[in-house]
Amino acid sequence: MAGAGRHPGLGRDAVPVSRRRRRPGALLYGANGFTGRLIAAVARRDGLPVTLGGRRPEAVARVAAETGQPWVAFRLDHPERVAEEVAAFDAVLLAAGPFSRTSAPVVEACLAAGTHYLDITGEIAVFESVFARDADAKRAGVTLLPGTGFDVVPSDCLAAALAAELPGASRLLLAFRAFAPSSGTARTMLESLPNGGAARVDGALVPVPPAWKVREIPFADHPRNAMTVSWGDLSTAYRSTGIPNIETYMTAPPALVASARAGHALAPLLSLALVRWFLEAAVGKAFPGPDEGARARERSYLWGRVERDDGAFVEGTAETLEGYAFTAEASVACLARVLGGTVVPGATTPSAAFGARFAESIGGTTLRVPSASAPGPPPA
Ligand SMILES: NC(=O)c1ccc[n+]([C@@H]2O[C@H](COP(=O)([O-])OP(=O)(O)OC[C@H]3O[C@@H](n4cnc5c(N)ncnc54)[C@H](OP(=O)(O)O)[C@@H]3O)[C@@H](O)[C@H]2O)c1
Repeated sequence: MAGAGRHPGLGRDAVPVSRRRRRPGALLYGANGFTGRLIAAVARRDGLPVTLGGRRPEAVARVAAETGQPWVAFRLDHPERVAEEVAAFDAVLLAAGPFSRTSAPVVEACLAAGTHYLDITGEIAVFESVFARDADAKRAGVTLLPGTGFDVVPSDCLAAALAAELPGASRLLLAFRAFAPSSGTARTMLESLPNGGAARVDGALVPVPPAWKVREIPFADHPRNAMTVSWGDLSTAYRSTGIPNIETYMTAPPALVASARAGHALAPLLSLALVRWFLEAAVGKAFPGPDEGARARERSYLWGRVERDDGAFVEGTAETLEGYAFTAEASVACLARVLGGTVVPGATTPSAAFGARFAESIGGTTLRVPSASAPGPPPA
């Protein structure tokens, strides 16, 4: 379903979408979500041709009525329909998650239609399945670029910049300061809870207990306690840098570390449909996402460290916008570059596609990566 005319009162100013020929520009699917709406606003501000998409016509049309962008609505459970819709665009930016439920049909449709695919996932399993389509993407002349948001653009660029300073590094640690999640992010995190933690060890993704390790992280503003979490960089930083041992940390006060560890014992409960339904409903109400003031005010802090077996190491930091504000800006910047035709076909990461300094092109972002230290005693 497309356009506005069939929904009186909704999408008053929206422009109908023609599906008969390829339109220049991109489809933003999930445009009525918390993050999708932020991306739509940045795309409109930057004059990037974007059509808003989603599964519920009334919800997508409501956003289109506010922004004046064209819109289209279709569900993702009919592959032929998805392929037909996606074929009308040069690129799709998927903002509908959890991506474990949405990515595969859209990737499949993009490969069939010769349409570039981008998303804002942070889910390790989704990154891994998109990267597994690398050869298909090259054959189809299509770019697959997952992770255009806060997870993973700044950390992926920090990892790549650090790795460039220390050739032969065997260990990478990345950390970020926790932020207030939207309900969609909280729901996605809830979905991954039963999987426990993860780390990259000798090139393999391995399960580890939640809050497996805890350490104090020297962020640029001040040090904070952090625990290991399974974050998207366990997939993307390995692809970007080839470093075989990776741990990802999120700031956490001691009480959160304790409940993360205790929560693991409850993980089997989450596989019960009723428990999941109840928690998902509760999560929807509990996490409205940061408001406009918080998005303008808050800052994000990241830290990274690469180590080599001879004891040499480099530590660096990044500072940037609040996570959702960053996600909207970075996603539109990635989309503009892909639409600009400068990205080679294949499955890739932000730093591999645009260079380690790409994050700094997003206003208010600074990477600080010094030169390698002299070798010292091996790391603990
Ligand atoms: N990597 C990052 O840095 C980053 C940043 C922000 C968000 N995210 C991720 O992006 C996702 C969206 O976050 P949000 O805050 O925008 O959540 P949200 O407000 O709950 O919006 C979710 C959107 O996804 C759509 N959706 C969900 N399941 C779908 C399905 N099976 N088929 C079609 N559409 C579906 C929803 O459509 P309906 O309204 O019809 O349900 C809605 O448009 C989450 O997974 C979140 O973790 C990642």
